Amino acid sequence: MSHEHNRRLNVRVAVLTASDRSSRGEREDLSGLEIIKIVSEAGWTVVSHTIVADDKEMLKKEMIRLSDTLKANLILTTGGTGLAPRDYTPDATLEVIDRVVPGLAEAMRRESIKKTPHAMLSRAVSGTRGSTLIVNLPGSPRAVRECLNVILPAIPHAVDLLGGGVFDCASPNP
Ligand code: MTE
Repeated sequence: MSHEHNRRLNVRVAVLTASDRSSRGEREDLSGLEIIKIVSEAGWTVVSHTIVADDKEMLKKEMIRLSDTLKANLILTTGGTGLAPRDYTPDATLEVIDRVVPGLAEAMRRESIKKTPHAMLSRAVSGTRGSTLIVNLPGSPRAVRECLNVILPAIPHAVDLLGGGVFDCASPNP
């Protein structure tokens, strides 16, 4: 395997917020903005930020667009992973992925439970569709921060293995 750790992998990240209220402009998408801040600080590129209602078919359609058409390396969803009647994000994700990657969701739940027992209520899943990795995050800025911190170290290798990463040869920090 050719790992070139001395060059930075540019990860093309699509942020997908599932929220009825944010999609109607009634609530600022603070969780989506938190994801953008964190992945930008990691040096990755945010190629899309969309807000979709908590509707399974609309979420599926958007995840398919972000992976098949936009060719994002990583789709980070936020919201809709719980038990409320309109929490559909994991269900939509399971219907679009080819393979489940349980370890990411397991690790997030394992660490999050140390912070709040409510983390047990997240049904978040993670998996791949073609060469795109899709990860569900819960729907609050704090949860996003806590969960992303857990999985971030594993992402570059995942993107590398999926064959979708673009090495940034111009990186000033070889
Ligand atoms: N995970 C972390 N790390 N920190 C949190 O504060 N809150 C959660 C959670 N996971 C939380 C967390 C709560 S309150 C719920 S109900 C579930 O995940 C589902 O959240 P969602 O419906 O917003 O996706």
